[in-house]
Amino acid sequence: MFYMFVLFWLCWWTLIKVFVALTDEIQSVSVIEGNSVLLPMDVTEIQDDDNILWKFGAGRILIAKINRHKRMFSTFDGPDGRFRDRLKVDQQTGSLIITNITTQHAGDYQLQIIGAKWSSKTFSVSVYGNLPTPNITRDYSQNLSSSSSQQNCSLLCSVVNVGHVTLSWYKGKSLLSSISVSDLSISLSLPLEVEYQDKNSYSCVINNPIRNQTTHLNITQLCHTHPASVSLTALISAAGFLLIVAAVVMCCIRKKCRKTVTAFKTLEEDRTDSSKSQKPKSKADAVYQNVPKKQ
Ligand SMILES: *[C@@H]1O[C@H](CO)[C@@H](O)[C@H](O)[C@H]1NC(C)=O
Ligand SMILES: *[C@@H]1O[C@H](CO)[C@@H](O)[C@H](O)[C@H]1NC(C)=O
Ligand SMILES: *[C@@H]1O[C@H](CO)[C@@H](O)[C@H](O)[C@H]1NC(C)=O
Repeated sequence: MFYMFVLFWLCWWTLIKVFVALTDEIQSVSVIEGNSVLLPMDVTEIQDDDNILWKFGAGRILIAKINRHKRMFSTFDGPDGRFRDRLKVDQQTGSLIITNITTQHAGDYQLQIIGAKWSSKTFSVSVYGNLPTPNITRDYSQNLSSSSSQQNCSLLCSVVNVGHVTLSWYKGKSLLSSISVSDLSISLSLPLEVEYQDKNSYSCVINNPIRNQTTHLNITQLCHTHPASVSLTALISAAGFLLIVAAVVMCCIRKKCRKTVTAFKTLEEDRTDSSKSQKPKSKADAVYQNVPKKQ
């Protein structure tokens, strides 16, 4: 019974130790694409003649081998050559430097120290793309269809070719809406509706865990320009106005014509009646004759 207990306790202790080793020895590192990153090695932890190995990925591919005592500093390109011309070793400390990093180099880097004492440490490296500046544009498709187009201005904030980012609209310092993407290389856009008279400051922000980029909204510049819908309305109004003018002009011409014809007819009648009536009728009287009589 006692031995069972000891065995159980030993097992439990080993498990705890493994668990602690696993959780304690993973360090996260974030880096922007194109930059360099240094995975540090603490010299105080090692003996001079320890072998230091750097390995990459789940396959534990050997990418660097260091023995400071023998002055041996080797780096390897990896089977697919992805580390070619990108690895350096700090000869004092044995730290690994990855230059001009790309998303291909994201993953786990394991440091193994082999000597009198064995130990290992893992760096989990995340590589983030460069952040583009968000682009704010007027969303005319929304304006034409929505009933709010009279007071509201529809906008879109968009970015192209991004991965692992969040795009957000802020009103002052408070978050209004956001959208996140974890895929690589896609386009994102986020709508916003503001009133033309809105005096608040709005901004569109793109961020990843390392950086952010902000574009401020200029309502006056974007919303107070003449949109397609306005020019369409103007066009329709102009056409309508022209039609009315044309109708009025036609009406006038026809009326004038009729007047002349009537006047001519009356004059003829006058000429024939002139012998009977001594008083010649004026042109104006003739015109009035043509108007239907009020009963
Ligand atoms: C960095 O890597 C990219 C992609 O592999 C390459 O096109 C570029 O020339 C490199 N830049 C430098 C400064 O080495
Ligand atoms: C106009 O936009 C505001 C937000 O700026 C919104 O609260 C309001 O409901 C919108 N009006 C209409 C008619 O959609
Ligand atoms: C953007 O980054 C700066 C620091 O670079 C930080 O002060 C600011 O709060 C960040 N803004 C947002 C909206 O995350």
